[in-house]
Formats: sequence, C-alpha cells, structure tokens
Amino acid sequence: MDIKNPLSHTFYDLYPLHKSIKRELEEKFSAIIDRSQFILGQELENFEQEFADFIGVKYCIGVNSGLDALIISLKALGIEHGDEVIVPGFTFFATWLAVVNVGAIPVPIDVRPEDANIDPQKIVERISPKTKAIIAVHLYGNPADMPAILEIARRFSLFVVEDNAQAVGASILGQKTGSFGHINATSFYPTKNLGALGDGGAITTNDALLAEKCRKMRNYGSISKYKHEMLGFNSRLDELQAAFLRIKLKYLETHVTERRKLAAQLISVYNERLQNQLTFVRYSSEAAPHILSCLDTKGILSSYELPSHYPYCINDFHELLGIAKSYLPVAEKFARFQVSLPFYLGIISEA
Ligand SMILES: Cc1ncc(COP(=O)(O)O)c(C=O)c1O
Repeated sequence: MDIKNPLSHTFYDLYPLHKSIKRELEEKFSAIIDRSQFILGQELENFEQEFADFIGVKYCIGVNSGLDALIISLKALGIEHGDEVIVPGFTFFATWLAVVNVGAIPVPIDVRPEDANIDPQKIVERISPKTKAIIAVHLYGNPADMPAILEIARRFSLFVVEDNAQAVGASILGQKTGSFGHINATSFYPTKNLGALGDGGAITTNDALLAEKCRKMRNYGSISKYKHEMLGFNSRLDELQAAFLRIKLKYLETHVTERRKLAAQLISVYNERLQNQLTFVRYSSEAAPHILSCLDTKGILSSYELPSHYPYCINDFHELLGIAKSYLPVAEKFARFQVSLPFYLGIISEA
C-alpha cells in the first residue's frame, strides 16, 4: 500500500498474514488428513494447554465460537432467568445476546470517552439485589479497567467475566487479559488477533470446577462417551482449527507487537492527512490493537465506504425486547460517529 494514502486501501485483508505461514498450514492440514481424527483429539488438547499458558491461566476449553464461549461461561456460573448481568453500553451484539440467551437481563453501563470501555465509576449505581455478574469487554483490543472492576465485584460479591474476543495478547501491568475474571471468553473469528480459518472460541479460567462444567457443556454434557451428566451443547473446537491456531499462536506475541507499532504509525499518517480532525480512541501501551477506531464527528470520512464498529448501542437492542432505555450518552455518541479505518497485518508492506 501507499503509506501516504491508507484510505485508498481495502478495509481488511487476511491474505498477507496467511501467505507468510501458508506452507505450515498446508503441512498441518495434510498431517491431519493422514491422522483422520477430527474431533476432541490431540491437537485440541495441545492447543488448550498452549493457549492457557499464553494467557497465564490453568485451564482453557476450546469451543466453536466467542458467542458460545460467553453463553457456556454464564451457564457455568449458574446465571439464569431473573438474574441481572452488567454489560458495557457499547459492544458487539454477542456480549448482550449471550446474557439474553441464558435468560438473564443485561444492564448497560455507559462507556469511557477515551476508549469506549465500560466506565467503572458508573457500575455501582446500577447494582441491584438481582445482579450476579459483570461482563468486561476489552473493546478494539484495549484492556478495560480490570483492577477497578474486580474491586467492585469483590465488594458486592459478583462474578466477573471478561469478553476478551477483541484483545487476545493485551495485558495490564504484564498480566494478560482473559486471566482476570472468574471465567473468560474469547473468539477466534478469522479477523481476530488470533484468528482461526473458520469459527472458534475458547474459555479461560483458573477455577477447576468451572472448567470441568464447561468441558462437559461443550460436548453434550459429557466427558466420557454416552455418559451425559448435564444438559449441554455441541460446541467443540475441531482438530483442524485447533491445529491452525497452534501455528498462529507461535507468532502471536510478534504479531501483537507489530499491531502496536502499526496502529501508532497509521494513526500518525491519518492525523497528518486529515489535519487531526478525527478523534482516535486511546490505545494503551499494553493494548493488542484489533480495530483502528475513531470518532468522526465532522463527517470527513463520509465519502469513504468505511465500516462502523458499531452503529448501535445496547439501548437499540433493548428496544427489541421492549426494555426501557438507559442513560448512555457516550455509548450513543460512539454509535453515531464511530468509524473504523483500514488496519491489518501486512497493510504497509503489501504492493
Ligand atoms: C466483543 C465481542 N464479543 C463476542 C464476539 C463473538 O465472537 P464470535 O463471532 O466468535 O461468536 C465478538 C466477535 O465476533 C466480539 O467482538
């Protein structure tokens, strides 16, 4: 690409990354065909251990999407009909949908203007006797304020779930996101920081009991064949995806460092070209930038066909259920003015 004109470029392209590891992926694909075991095998077991080590937790359970990782995590915590779960007022639909899918009510909290993450100062006023958990989303790859969230959760005896779908590789004072909550969910959707070649997700936790429940729940409530000990789903991360993820995991730390450098470089190019008229979210030095996000309040990007992550806030979803609106001025502002700029590994070196 022409670094001086990044806006002329396609929004997202996964090919440069995959081109660099194509041989390894192909060899693995071939080895798996030779072995012909596709579900709950050695690749998954190895990936789960390696990803748990990467995040710095004892247990990882591979599942088939980030949404399932959230649903299974909430179910393992015993969240059910009538419970309330605190969520950020601005996030991808899946965070909200997981809560609704287990029968609970999502209670949205406004987000911080600097990074669109949940504002811990606004949580306490929305805690009720029905509140059971807080879901913290690390939006765009920026860690939410976990120390503050954990402190509130401790004070009110609430569970904490991290939605780490967008921030794999991010840290807070050296501790990886996905290791702070009682149980945490991530997505391996192909565009994510650690993306599969299809759908995938994982749960990470240090709690042996929660891990065992999740392991059963992802496989028809069973860990030994035809012995169904609870209700469950078919939500397994398959061998092929686990094998591909193991290859990509080896490069993840390097890729996250590249993402940090690239985000800083592109933000300065965009600012120069567009006379600082965009307000970029603040990427912390330990973020794992996933989406290059800004507010375009002047509409200067309106002639470019760029996506928004996201053109809605939780109030819009609540309208679907007939739930009263919450006061979410910052979330509403993001929903109205947020724009994502072209950003992916290989964007600069590409011809
Ligand atoms: C914040 C967030 N949570 C949850 C998900 C759900 O992940 P998946 O698409 O793998 O179900 C995503 C991504 O799609 C996401 O960005």
